[in-house]
Amino acid sequence: MGEQKIGRREFLGQIAVGTAALGYFPSSVLGANERVRVGMIGVGARGQELVKQLLAVPNAELVAVADVYKRRHEEAKKLVPRLKTFDDHRRMLEIKDLDAVIVASPLHIHARHFLDTLAASKDLYAEKTMTWSIAEAEQCREAAKGSKQVVAIGLQHESSGSLADAKQWIKQGLPGKITQVESWMSRNTPQGQGQWVRPVPADCTAENVRWDAFLNGRSPRAFDGYKFINWRLFWEFSGGNITENMVHQVAWIMTALDLPAPSSAYMSGGIFSEKDGREVPDTIAVTLNFPNDVVVAWQSVFNNKRFGLGERLLGSHGTIEHLRGSNDMVTGKSESGIRFYPEKVNRPDGAELKGESRDQDHMANFIDCIRTRKRPNAPVEIGYRSALAAHMANLSYRSKKAVTLEEAREMRLATHG
Ligand SMILES: NC(=O)c1ccc[n+]([C@@H]2O[C@H](COP(=O)([O-])OP(=O)(O)OC[C@H]3O[C@@H](n4cnc5c(N)ncnc54)[C@H](O)[C@@H]3O)[C@@H](O)[C@H]2O)c1
Repeated sequence: MGEQKIGRREFLGQIAVGTAALGYFPSSVLGANERVRVGMIGVGARGQELVKQLLAVPNAELVAVADVYKRRHEEAKKLVPRLKTFDDHRRMLEIKDLDAVIVASPLHIHARHFLDTLAASKDLYAEKTMTWSIAEAEQCREAAKGSKQVVAIGLQHESSGSLADAKQWIKQGLPGKITQVESWMSRNTPQGQGQWVRPVPADCTAENVRWDAFLNGRSPRAFDGYKFINWRLFWEFSGGNITENMVHQVAWIMTALDLPAPSSAYMSGGIFSEKDGREVPDTIAVTLNFPNDVVVAWQSVFNNKRFGLGERLLGSHGTIEHLRGSNDMVTGKSESGIRFYPEKVNRPDGAELKGESRDQDHMANFIDCIRTRKRPNAPVEIGYRSALAAHMANLSYRSKKAVTLEEAREMRLATHG
């Protein structure tokens, strides 16, 4: 007779008592072929995309979702029929054999879901921006540092081949001293269709939504389906395009150049194209100053998409240009990819290079880290630093002046932490 086989969950059950005092389960006992059991908090538009990404990862399964809107339970069950559904995330976190949790709730609830997930000893994939305020970012980073759980942030460009190429070229010293980065993000919609505006479904009513849980401590008021669905447009719940999109590009730039938090930020702009009652600006120009001789500029519009998205890292010996869907000025053709262009004055024999590294699967990287206990591609540190940069920009815009990191940490706008 061979040894009696003991299943992982049985094994975890037996050692749980011993490890409970330490506040974590040693998920490293997960074998390569054992299924990682995942739950999700907030299974709306992004959450449902992430469900599909998770289902594509071998040996990972979605077992439960928590969402305050009943409709989302039915939508999630269409993707995974045998799901357990909850309207309160705390009940889902009580499931013992849940290994990990993906948080894809609106921004103003990220910190609560982040902290509750770690307190329940589950590994965590938290959508960007890590938190709605600087104070919350500090709190979440501390909690992650004091925990044994894997924490990955939904900054998927940290897993991109373009970032691997940029880091490699910088490590080789090809661009020389980079003093400035210009970056931009642009979109357009047909006239009259506001960017981001979503229709409110007929079943989005006070009976079908746990409105208080959505408000998460914001002042109590009657149910407002428009704000519940279009939370992105309002400061109480959102940081606008800064926390929706700039954060992705700034995180990519910060990792490429190994930048600390900015020393100061300035942001101007306004609601110039989407005059539909929203509070967050649609036209934006941000300047982020870093202590190590670098300034990063980011610009964004919602009424012209000719130049798509991109970053240009300007160095004494060359330029790294990363484009996504930008129309070339001369040919008009759409360009994507990453290239290095030498500065002939300082690198006369330098050759133009094209990045060839492939993207890694960001979700697969998280699941892999649950097994190996390695640091994910987008760890809490980059979530934290990019959140700081984002909030400094918004605090500058809202207070109409440049703000230093120290000032931003002290600032408490009525609806901004
Ligand atoms: N990484 C990316 O590329 C990317 C892309 C899009 C969105 N996002 C991020 O994903 C998050 C969600 O965005 P979205 O567009 O899916 O929003 P959404 O409104 O479509 O989905 C949010 C879901 O959370 C639910 N919810 C609200 N309060 C809750 C609570 N207290 N507990 C549990 N569930 C609650 C809502 O009912 C909804 O189903 C945001 O942080 C956004 O920035 C990331």
